[in-house]
Amino acid sequence: MADTLVPKGLDGVAVDVTAIATTDESGNLLYRGYRAIDLAARKSFEEVAHLVLLGSLPDQKQLADFRAKITGNHSLSNEIIDTMRELKQVNLMDAMRSFASIYPYASKETVPLLLEIASRFPQILSSSARISDGEEPLKPIRGTYSENLYYLLTGTENKQHSRALEKLLILYMEHEFNASTFALRVAASTLTDPVSAIVAALSTLKGPLHGGANSEVLTYLLNFKSEADAIRFAEQKLEKKEKIMGFGHRIYKTKDPRAQFVKGELKKLIGDSIAYHSATAIEEYVWNRKSLPANLDFYAALYLHTIGIKEKYYLPIFACSRVFGWGAHYIEQTANNKIIRPTSVYTGPKGLEVP
Ligand code: COA
Repeated sequence: MADTLVPKGLDGVAVDVTAIATTDESGNLLYRGYRAIDLAARKSFEEVAHLVLLGSLPDQKQLADFRAKITGNHSLSNEIIDTMRELKQVNLMDAMRSFASIYPYASKETVPLLLEIASRFPQILSSSARISDGEEPLKPIRGTYSENLYYLLTGTENKQHSRALEKLLILYMEHEFNASTFALRVAASTLTDPVSAIVAALSTLKGPLHGGANSEVLTYLLNFKSEADAIRFAEQKLEKKEKIMGFGHRIYKTKDPRAQFVKGELKKLIGDSIAYHSATAIEEYVWNRKSLPANLDFYAALYLHTIGIKEKYYLPIFACSRVFGWGAHYIEQTANNKIIRPTSVYTGPKGLEVP
């Protein structure tokens, strides 16, 4: 038992070292030393996933091997599809968690298994959603990870929108000791298997304070008829001391560079729309009134909507990318492990007689 506490929520506490990601002095998110926004602008999803998971940008041969492993033509087995049919209506994050957990993976070694899990995520997501909607599952196409994911979620092939999705996926991939990654590292520190550790991360990502913010953002942004409506909404929320989803961040206190990157992309797509102007008006109002920056989820919601992706997919899409970051942390944690087992300051009674 201890008698002093670290700050609540481990705010500002460094609990271990990592070589995977950090933010630099200018507030830029770095993956293995490279700025995430530069990677999003210039690299493919597969190149960045290789970098994050395995530590280096791939050469041509490594890229071809890696791409084949994560984008192969994987159809789900009949047993998995039958189980999906039995469940019918299911929350998609619950479906991801359940089917990621029971999937009969062939690999036993850590890295091949991590790649196998990641490669199944788009199929698990798409098939669960379609069966839940009374539709037949789609077969994957022979494209990149992003093209395949875009197709599986929309039923259409669109190179331009797939590339737009790819940029966002790259920005979602990794963020050092965020809540889901920390949950994964706690699980990994017990030396449990990668599947179990990823299920812990998926369960944590589902919470509205972590990954669940983006769909709530869309619900309010699409309701505004004018910028004045948008500002009134933000004003009322702050007066009632309610949180506005899509604002605030544990790490970014002035600007989330990922959000600003997506805002720039969105401006190119729908810079004249009421939704875009409402979003920028709220951003400015909340910053002036509360000094809270818009986070990635704020602009990601409208961005995904603009490229034709339905709101129910926003959170599980995040998982389809973050799974590579989780994998990197699984490898890092188990390579230099000590079980994560903090202590607490006890505030309950002592010495009670058992009646
Ligand atoms: N809307 C309104 N006020 C907010 C806010 C938001 N989205 N986020 C933080 N605040 C306020 C808090 O109420 C608190 O105010 P107070 O000091 O007057 O009590 C202050 O800012 C600090 O917030 P806190 O929740 O303690 O910060 P945190 O670092 O613990 O939490 C988040 C970070 C992301 C969980 C938090 O900002 C939040 O809940 N945001 C909304 C959910 C979201 O968008 N999540 C996606 C994250 S990428």
